[in-house]
Amino acid sequence: MKVRKAIIPVAGLGTRFLPATKSIPKEMLTVVDRPTIQYIVEEVVASGIDQIIFVTSEGKSAIENHFDYNYHLDMVLKEKNKTVLGEELNNISNLIDIVSVRQKKPLGLGHAIWTARHVVGNEPFMVLLGDDLVLSKKPCAKQMLELFDEVGESIVAIQRVPASETHQYGIVEGEKNDRENTYRVSRMVEKPAPGTTDSDMAIIGRYILMPEIFSILDTTTPGHGGEIQLTDALLALTKRRAMYAYEFEGTRYDAGDKMGYLKAIIAYGLLHPQLGKPLMEYIKGIVTGK
Ligand code: G1P
Repeated sequence: MKVRKAIIPVAGLGTRFLPATKSIPKEMLTVVDRPTIQYIVEEVVASGIDQIIFVTSEGKSAIENHFDYNYHLDMVLKEKNKTVLGEELNNISNLIDIVSVRQKKPLGLGHAIWTARHVVGNEPFMVLLGDDLVLSKKPCAKQMLELFDEVGESIVAIQRVPASETHQYGIVEGEKNDRENTYRVSRMVEKPAPGTTDSDMAIIGRYILMPEIFSILDTTTPGHGGEIQLTDALLALTKRRAMYAYEFEGTRYDAGDKMGYLKAIIAYGLLHPQLGKPLMEYIKGIVTGK
Protein backbone atom coordinates (compact mmCIF):
# COMPACT_ATOMS: atom_id res chain seq x y z
CA MET A 1 0.00 0.00 0.00
CA LYS A 2 1.27 3.46 -0.87
CA VAL A 3 2.00 6.04 1.84
CA ARG A 4 0.12 9.18 0.82
CA LYS A 5 -0.15 11.17 4.06
CA ALA A 6 2.29 12.69 6.51
CA ILE A 7 1.51 13.96 9.99
CA ILE A 8 3.67 16.82 11.25
CA PRO A 9 2.97 17.61 14.92
CA VAL A 10 3.48 21.32 15.56
CA ALA A 11 1.52 21.80 18.76
CA GLY A 12 4.52 22.02 21.12
CA LEU A 13 5.05 25.18 23.16
CA GLY A 14 8.72 25.64 22.30
CA THR A 15 9.71 26.51 25.85
CA ARG A 16 13.35 25.62 25.13
CA PHE A 17 13.53 28.63 22.81
CA LEU A 18 11.96 31.28 25.00
CA PRO A 19 11.92 34.24 24.72
CA ALA A 20 12.25 33.82 20.90
CA THR A 21 9.09 31.69 20.84
CA LYS A 22 6.94 33.86 23.07
CA SER A 23 4.78 35.05 20.18
CA ILE A 24 6.01 33.04 17.19
CA PRO A 25 5.91 29.26 16.83
CA LYS A 26 9.30 27.55 17.19
CA GLU A 27 8.67 25.94 13.79
CA MET A 28 8.87 29.44 12.25
CA LEU A 29 12.43 30.10 13.48
CA THR A 30 14.65 30.65 10.48
CA VAL A 31 17.50 28.51 9.22
CA VAL A 32 19.26 30.69 6.59
CA ASP A 33 16.28 31.84 4.51
CA ARG A 34 13.31 29.70 5.45
CA PRO A 35 11.54 28.57 8.59
CA THR A 36 12.55 25.13 9.90
CA ILE A 37 9.07 23.76 9.14
CA GLN A 38 9.57 24.51 5.44
CA TYR A 39 12.54 22.12 5.30
CA ILE A 40 10.31 19.37 6.71
CA VAL A 41 7.51 20.13 4.23
CA GLU A 42 10.04 20.21 1.36
CA GLU A 43 11.36 16.80 2.46
CA VAL A 44 7.82 15.43 2.37
CA VAL A 45 7.18 16.87 -1.11
CA ALA A 46 10.55 15.61 -2.43
CA SER A 47 9.65 12.14 -1.17
CA GLY A 48 6.44 11.96 -3.20
CA ILE A 49 3.85 12.43 -0.44
CA ASP A 50 1.23 15.05 -1.29
CA GLN A 51 -0.98 15.33 1.78
CA ILE A 52 0.17 16.88 5.05
CA ILE A 53 -1.69 16.98 8.32
CA PHE A 54 -0.46 19.54 10.83
CA VAL A 55 -1.40 18.83 14.43
CA THR A 56 -1.55 22.35 15.79
CA SER A 57 -2.53 24.25 18.91
CA GLU A 58 -3.37 27.79 19.87
CA GLY A 59 -0.95 30.43 18.56
CA LYS A 60 0.31 28.39 15.61
CA SER A 61 -1.61 30.07 12.78
CA ALA A 62 1.62 31.57 11.37
CA ILE A 63 2.53 28.05 10.17
CA GLU A 64 -0.72 27.62 8.25
CA ASN A 65 -0.39 31.14 6.81
CA HIS A 66 3.16 30.40 5.69
CA PHE A 67 1.97 27.61 3.41
CA ASP A 68 -1.08 29.48 2.17
CA TYR A 69 -1.30 31.69 -0.91
CA ASN A 70 -0.65 35.33 0.03
CA TYR A 71 -2.50 37.42 -2.55
CA HIS A 72 -1.22 40.78 -1.31
CA LEU A 73 2.42 39.70 -1.22
CA ASP A 74 2.08 38.11 -4.66
CA MET A 75 0.77 41.39 -6.12
CA VAL A 76 3.52 43.47 -4.51
CA LEU A 77 6.24 41.12 -5.81
CA LYS A 78 4.73 41.21 -9.31
CA GLU A 79 4.64 45.04 -9.25
CA LYS A 80 8.29 45.06 -8.26
CA ASN A 81 9.12 42.51 -10.96
CA LYS A 82 10.30 40.02 -8.38
CA THR A 83 8.59 37.15 -10.16
CA VAL A 84 11.18 34.49 -9.34
CA LEU A 85 10.74 35.07 -5.65
CA GLY A 86 6.96 35.13 -6.07
CA GLU A 87 7.02 31.80 -7.90
CA GLU A 88 9.19 30.26 -5.21
CA LEU A 89 6.70 31.38 -2.57
CA ASN A 90 3.76 29.95 -4.49
CA ASN A 91 5.45 26.68 -5.44
CA ILE A 92 5.39 25.19 -2.00
CA SER A 93 1.70 25.96 -1.40
CA ASN A 94 0.79 24.61 -4.85
CA LEU A 95 2.66 21.37 -4.40
CA ILE A 96 1.00 20.21 -1.26
CA ASP A 97 -2.42 19.71 0.19
CA ILE A 98 -2.41 20.73 3.86
CA VAL A 99 -5.05 20.23 6.52
CA SER A 100 -4.82 20.98 10.23
CA VAL A 101 -6.25 19.33 13.28
CA ARG A 102 -6.12 20.77 16.76
CA GLN A 103 -4.58 19.03 19.73
CA LYS A 104 -6.66 20.57 22.47
CA LYS A 105 -4.43 19.59 25.38
CA PRO A 106 -0.65 19.03 25.47
CA LEU A 107 -0.90 15.35 26.40
CA GLY A 108 2.16 14.11 24.50
CA LEU A 109 3.38 12.99 21.08
CA GLY A 110 1.26 9.82 21.08
CA HIS A 111 -1.85 11.90 21.74
CA ALA A 112 -0.90 14.39 19.01
CA ILE A 113 -0.69 11.56 16.45
CA TRP A 114 -3.97 10.05 17.71
CA THR A 115 -5.64 13.45 17.15
CA ALA A 116 -5.10 13.01 13.39
CA ARG A 117 -6.68 9.52 13.22
CA HIS A 118 -9.85 10.52 11.35
CA VAL A 119 -7.92 12.40 8.69
CA VAL A 120 -5.47 9.54 8.13
CA GLY A 121 -8.03 6.73 8.11
CA ASN A 122 -7.08 3.12 7.54
CA GLU A 123 -3.81 3.44 5.65
CA PRO A 124 -0.09 3.56 6.49
CA PHE A 125 1.23 7.07 7.04
CA MET A 126 4.39 8.97 7.82
CA VAL A 127 5.22 11.10 10.86
CA LEU A 128 7.90 13.80 10.75
CA LEU A 129 8.90 15.77 13.83
CA GLY A 130 9.66 19.41 13.14
CA ASP A 131 12.68 19.56 15.45
CA ASP A 132 14.64 17.03 13.43
CA LEU A 133 16.21 18.42 10.26
CA VAL A 134 18.02 15.85 8.14
CA LEU A 135 20.61 16.79 5.53
CA SER A 136 21.11 13.92 3.11
CA LYS A 137 21.67 13.14 -0.57
CA LYS A 138 18.33 11.36 -0.80
CA PRO A 139 15.60 12.77 1.49
CA CYS A 140 15.36 10.72 4.69
CA ALA A 141 11.60 10.24 4.19
CA LYS A 142 12.24 8.90 0.70
CA GLN A 143 14.84 6.43 1.95
CA MET A 144 12.26 5.15 4.42
CA LEU A 145 9.49 4.95 1.82
CA GLU A 146 11.73 2.80 -0.38
CA LEU A 147 12.31 0.44 2.53
CA PHE A 148 8.56 0.42 3.21
CA ASP A 149 7.95 -0.70 -0.39
CA GLU A 150 10.06 -3.76 0.44
CA VAL A 151 8.94 -4.64 3.97
CA GLY A 152 5.38 -3.24 4.13
CA GLU A 153 5.61 -2.76 7.91
CA SER A 154 6.23 0.10 10.36
CA ILE A 155 9.65 1.73 10.27
CA VAL A 156 11.37 4.10 12.70
CA ALA A 157 14.44 6.10 11.68
CA ILE A 158 17.39 5.75 14.03
CA GLN A 159 20.84 7.14 14.60
CA ARG A 160 23.60 5.99 16.93
CA VAL A 161 24.12 8.13 20.02
CA PRO A 162 26.71 7.99 22.83
CA ALA A 163 25.57 6.16 26.01
CA SER A 164 25.56 9.52 27.83
CA GLU A 165 22.71 10.72 25.56
CA THR A 166 20.39 7.69 25.39
CA HIS A 167 18.18 9.16 28.14
CA GLN A 168 17.16 11.98 25.76
CA TYR A 169 15.59 9.68 23.13
CA GLY A 170 13.31 6.80 22.42
CA ILE A 171 15.74 3.85 22.31
CA VAL A 172 15.27 0.80 20.13
CA GLU A 173 16.67 -2.69 20.68
CA GLY A 174 16.71 -5.27 17.91
CA GLU A 175 18.49 -7.70 15.63
CA LYS A 176 20.26 -6.87 12.38
CA ASN A 177 18.14 -7.65 9.35
CA ASP A 178 19.32 -8.87 5.90
CA ARG A 179 18.81 -5.48 4.34
CA GLU A 180 21.58 -2.94 4.85
CA ASN A 181 21.20 -0.58 7.83
CA THR A 182 17.96 -2.27 8.90
CA TYR A 183 17.08 -3.90 12.22
CA ARG A 184 14.06 -5.90 13.35
CA VAL A 185 12.80 -4.15 16.50
CA SER A 186 12.34 -6.32 19.60
CA ARG A 187 11.96 -3.68 22.31
CA MET A 188 11.80 0.06 22.65
CA VAL A 189 11.74 2.42 25.60
CA GLU A 190 11.14 6.16 25.86
CA LYS A 191 14.00 8.07 27.46
CA PRO A 192 15.50 5.17 29.46
CA ALA A 193 17.27 5.99 32.73
CA PRO A 194 21.07 5.93 32.27
CA GLY A 195 22.48 2.41 32.38
CA THR A 196 19.17 0.62 31.71
CA THR A 197 19.82 -0.22 28.04
CA ASP A 198 22.86 -1.44 26.11
CA SER A 199 21.49 -0.14 22.84
CA ASP A 200 22.75 3.05 21.23
CA MET A 201 19.99 3.15 18.58
CA ALA A 202 18.02 6.36 19.12
CA ILE A 203 14.77 7.16 17.36
CA ILE A 204 14.86 10.40 15.42
CA GLY A 205 11.73 12.14 14.24
CA ARG A 206 10.79 10.09 11.17
CA TYR A 207 8.32 7.20 11.32
CA ILE A 208 6.21 5.19 8.88
CA LEU A 209 3.34 3.65 10.81
CA MET A 210 0.61 1.13 10.19
CA PRO A 211 -2.87 2.49 11.01
CA GLU A 212 -3.31 -0.08 13.83
CA ILE A 213 -1.29 2.35 15.93
CA PHE A 214 -4.44 4.46 16.37
CA SER A 215 -6.42 1.72 18.13
CA ILE A 216 -3.39 1.10 20.35
CA LEU A 217 -3.18 4.82 21.16
CA ASP A 218 -6.89 4.71 22.14
CA THR A 219 -5.84 2.90 25.30
CA THR A 220 -2.19 3.96 25.78
CA THR A 221 -1.79 5.36 29.27
CA PRO A 222 0.58 8.20 30.20
CA GLY A 223 4.23 7.13 30.36
CA HIS A 224 7.51 9.05 30.62
CA GLY A 225 6.92 12.61 31.85
CA GLY A 226 3.22 11.88 32.41
CA GLU A 227 2.61 12.11 28.63
CA ILE A 228 1.02 9.67 26.19
CA GLN A 229 4.16 8.46 24.47
CA LEU A 230 4.25 7.32 20.85
CA THR A 231 7.13 5.01 21.78
CA ASP A 232 4.93 3.10 24.26
CA ALA A 233 2.28 2.56 21.58
CA LEU A 234 5.00 1.46 19.12
CA LEU A 235 6.22 -1.15 21.59
CA ALA A 236 2.66 -2.51 21.79
CA LEU A 237 2.54 -2.58 17.98
CA THR A 238 5.73 -4.72 17.84
CA LYS A 239 3.85 -7.42 19.77
CA ARG A 240 1.27 -7.60 16.95
CA ARG A 241 3.37 -7.22 13.82
CA ALA A 242 6.91 -6.60 12.62
CA MET A 243 8.61 -3.24 13.00
CA TYR A 244 11.92 -2.13 11.54
CA ALA A 245 14.52 0.38 12.66
CA TYR A 246 16.38 2.04 9.81
CA GLU A 247 19.75 3.77 10.14
CA PHE A 248 19.29 6.44 7.50
CA GLU A 249 22.02 8.03 5.38
CA GLY A 250 22.46 11.68 6.32
CA THR A 251 23.10 14.07 9.19
CA ARG A 252 20.38 14.98 11.61
CA TYR A 253 20.25 18.35 13.37
CA ASP A 254 18.16 18.82 16.50
CA ALA A 255 16.74 22.23 15.65
CA GLY A 256 14.74 22.15 18.90
CA ASP A 257 17.95 22.56 20.87
CA LYS A 258 19.95 25.79 20.84
CA MET A 259 23.27 24.18 19.93
CA GLY A 260 21.65 21.89 17.35
CA TYR A 261 19.90 24.90 15.84
CA LEU A 262 23.17 26.85 15.52
CA LYS A 263 24.84 23.83 13.91
CA ALA A 264 21.94 23.56 11.45
CA ILE A 265 22.30 27.22 10.48
CA ILE A 266 26.01 26.72 9.78
CA ALA A 267 25.51 23.42 7.89
CA TYR A 268 22.66 24.73 5.73
CA GLY A 269 24.44 28.07 5.27
CA LEU A 270 27.60 26.32 4.00
CA LEU A 271 25.49 24.47 1.42
CA HIS A 272 23.75 27.60 0.20
CA PRO A 273 24.75 28.36 -3.43
CA GLN A 274 25.49 32.05 -2.83
CA LEU A 275 26.27 32.18 0.87
CA GLY A 276 28.30 28.98 1.27
CA LYS A 277 31.66 30.29 0.12
CA PRO A 278 31.66 33.67 1.90
CA LEU A 279 30.37 31.99 5.06
CA MET A 280 33.23 29.48 4.96
CA GLU A 281 35.72 32.35 4.52
CA TYR A 282 34.16 34.12 7.48
CA ILE A 283 34.36 31.03 9.71
CA LYS A 284 37.98 30.41 8.69
CA GLY A 285 38.72 34.02 9.56
CA ILE A 286 37.25 33.59 13.05
CA VAL A 287 39.15 30.36 13.65
CA THR A 288 42.51 31.62 12.41
CA GLY A 289 42.02 35.09 13.87
CA LYS A 290 42.68 36.70 10.44
C1 G1P B 1 10.51 12.60 20.66
C2 G1P B 1 10.22 11.11 20.83
C3 G1P B 1 11.52 10.34 21.05
C4 G1P B 1 12.49 10.63 19.92
C5 G1P B 1 12.70 12.15 19.75
C6 G1P B 1 13.51 12.43 18.50
O1 G1P B 1 10.99 13.10 21.88
O2 G1P B 1 9.33 10.92 21.92
O3 G1P B 1 11.25 8.96 21.12
O4 G1P B 1 13.73 9.98 20.18
O5 G1P B 1 11.45 12.83 19.61
O6 G1P B 1 13.73 13.80 18.31
P1 G1P B 1 11.10 14.70 22.19
O7 G1P B 1 12.40 15.14 21.59
O8 G1P B 1 9.92 15.33 21.57
O9 G1P B 1 11.11 14.78 23.69
